[in-house]
Parts: sequence; structure tokens; C-alpha cells
Amino acid sequence: MKSKIAITEGDGVGPEVIKEAKKILRVISDYSELQFEFQEAPAGGEVWKKYGTNLPDKSYRVIKNADALLFGAVGLPDLAPGVAESAILKIRQGLDLYINLRPIKLYEPLKSICPLKADFIGKGIDMYIIRENTEGLYANIGGILREEVAINNMIYTRKGCERVIKYAFEFAKRRKHNKITSVDKANILKPSQLWRNIFTELGNKFPNINQENIYIDAFCQWLIRAPYSYETVVTGNLFGDIISDEGAFLIGSLGMASSGNIHPGETSMYEPIHGSAPDIAGKNVANPIGAILSVKLMLEESFKKPDIGDAIEQAVIEAIKEGRTQDIKEKNQKTLTTADMGDLIKENLKSILKR
Ligand code: NAD
Ligand code: IPM
Ligand code: MN
Repeated sequence: MKSKIAITEGDGVGPEVIKEAKKILRVISDYSELQFEFQEAPAGGEVWKKYGTNLPDKSYRVIKNADALLFGAVGLPDLAPGVAESAILKIRQGLDLYINLRPIKLYEPLKSICPLKADFIGKGIDMYIIRENTEGLYANIGGILREEVAINNMIYTRKGCERVIKYAFEFAKRRKHNKITSVDKANILKPSQLWRNIFTELGNKFPNINQENIYIDAFCQWLIRAPYSYETVVTGNLFGDIISDEGAFLIGSLGMASSGNIHPGETSMYEPIHGSAPDIAGKNVANPIGAILSVKLMLEESFKKPDIGDAIEQAVIEAIKEGRTQDIKEKNQKTLTTADMGDLIKENLKSILKR
């Protein structure tokens, strides 16, 4: 039976990078026992302009009935902030995708473009940011009163904290990580104090994993100063959003970073962490690797095929030895378009899966 993949291309570079990620899914369909069928689920700013909603009911139904969702990016510069973007939150919260898994891994060929000095890179960068994905300041409780007062409430619930922190501990254990780092602002924020207490409570059940608490402000400098020292990092919604973009630049570009919005056992959503990148949209220059590595996460987390996930990663590593999109390019290296990069990775993946 074919697995149903809902596709939201979105706005700006969204359709450009999703086109390349679909090439990867087609190769997997051709060379493994998995079979995929795609179903469009339009959402975002262009859709809002047409239908007056950023997530038509039909798209949401398609997503809910799919085995997984591959999502590009949404947001248009000529719309007010949030008009397109809230579609993402409707999906994350509607499907209760409480884990946002964001790998930050520096591939060997990109070491030379990492903005950090060699000392700071140390033995290499390879961490997973696990971001709470349904609560915090994203809980959508608030409003603007007469353009005079604006409020958002930072909501952390015991249930919300427990489930993501528990996932993070189990993740660290599964991956044989020595250390788990919790990032919060417990020196001032009440929700962070609840979070930290729950981290400590659950931590007692995992005595073999070293545990540390770091405040978000200090963590932003530690991420630059000693990125090699992190393995599993668990944090709240807004903090996770911010540190993942910081991490993405350390591994070469925002265009390199992937993510999975996950509810284990349920329809989950996979997307590059970047936005619609209006400054480069429509030029066929965007880096599709973040979207392609999101397919890797989909294969691992939703389809339980870590071998295919590894093959995708290998195909990416081989490709960046040969050519690069402009954001990760070095002098004297061949500049690839979005489509060239996708094709190169696709061909590499074919040869790996044929073996
Ligand atoms: P952005 O991530 O779109 O772009 C930031 C910078 O990174 C830009 O210089 C851009 O060119 C570069 N960049 C992003 N993706 C790239 C890629 N694949 N390859 C090469 N370079 C890439 O962030 P922004 O400019 O703050 O936001 C633009 C719009 O996207 C806004 O509407 C924002 O709300 C939205 N947004 C959407 C998502 C999402 O859909 N998941 C995520 C973040 C931002
Ligand atoms: C992300 C994005 C979203 C977020 C926005 C567009 C709602 O920045 O996925 O990182 O803040 O979660
Ligand atoms: Mn973000």
C-alpha cells in the first residue's frame, strides 16, 4: 500500500526546495519497498490571498489523513506579519506535534566555511535541539487592545513539559548521549521554574545521563564558544526557535537545517527550519538541503527506516564535496542552482540505494 505524503509548498523559496525534496522521495519509491503518493495541501500567504484563509479546510483534511506532511515555508513580505505564518501553528497545535526535533550537524566538507575558529569547533558539531512545540509564548493566548496594549501569555503546563522532557531523556538514552542540556530562564520566568523542576524530577530516572541547566542568554554564547560539547538540548518553544537559527549558521547556512514536528505514532510534519527567504525567492539559488534532510528525518521518525535516512545523509555529504549552492560556496567551487543540487543528491542517493 502506498504511503500518503501531504505536500505544502508554501511561499517564496518553499516551492523551490520542496520540488527537490520530492525528487528524493521519488527515488526512495523507486529503490525501496516504500511507495509514496503525494497529495497537495496548499497553505500560507499565496493561499490566503486567493481564499482568505492560510489553511483551507481541505488542506487540513488532507494533512490529517496523510502518513506525513512535507512542508516548505510560508510568509510574504507584502502581508502583515503572522497572516501567513499562523498556518504553521494551526498545524503544530491542531495535530498536537509537541516535539520539534532540530539536528545541528556540521558536515566535514563544510568545516572550512563554519564561521567559528577551529578551537571553537573542537571535535565537531553534532547536537539535537528538542524544542517544545505547542506551548510557551506560542500558545496563542493574548491580544491587542485598541492598539495600546498587547499581551501574550507564556503558558507552560506540567503535561506539556513532562512529555517533551521525557522524550528528550529517552532520545538521549537511545542515542547513547553522555549529556543532556536543558535551556531555560528560570532565574526570572515562572514557566521556566516549573520546567526546571520537571527536568530535575524526570532526570532522577536517568542517573546515567549527565544533566545540566543553562540559562538561555548564556547558552547563546556557549553555543558559539563550545558547540562541540552539546548532544541533546531540550528547551521551550521560543528559546528553541532562536537557538536553532543560531545553530544553523554554525553548520554553514540556514538553508542546511532540517526539522521534524513530531507526535510519535501520529501524522508528523517535516520542514526546513528556514522561512520563505523573499530576498532570494524565484531565483533558483536557495539551498534545498534543509528540505532534503527533513525527508531524512521523515524516513527515520515516521517510517522507521534509519538506513534510508543514513543513505540520504551520505548522498548530501557526497554532493557538497562536488558543488554548492551560493550560501555555502567556497572560492573556486562550482556554483549549483537549487535544481542542480537536488539532482546531484538524487543521483548520489540512487547509486547508494542500488548497492
Ligand atoms: P528566512 O529564513 O526566510 O531568511 C533569512 C535569511 O536566510 C535570508 O537571507 C535568506 O535568504 C537566507 N535563507 C533562508 N533559507 C535559505 C535557503 N534555503 N538557502 C539559502 N539561504 C537561505 O527568514 P526571514 O527573512 O526572517 O523570514 C522571511 C519570511 O519567512 C517571513 O515571513 C517569516 O515569518 C517566514 N518564516 C517562515 C518559516 C516557516 O515557514 N517555517 C520559518 C521562518 C520564517
Ligand atoms: C520556525 C519559524 C516559525 C516559528 C514561525 C514562522 C511561526 O520561525 O519554524 O522556526 O517561530 O516556530
Ligand atoms: Mn524559526
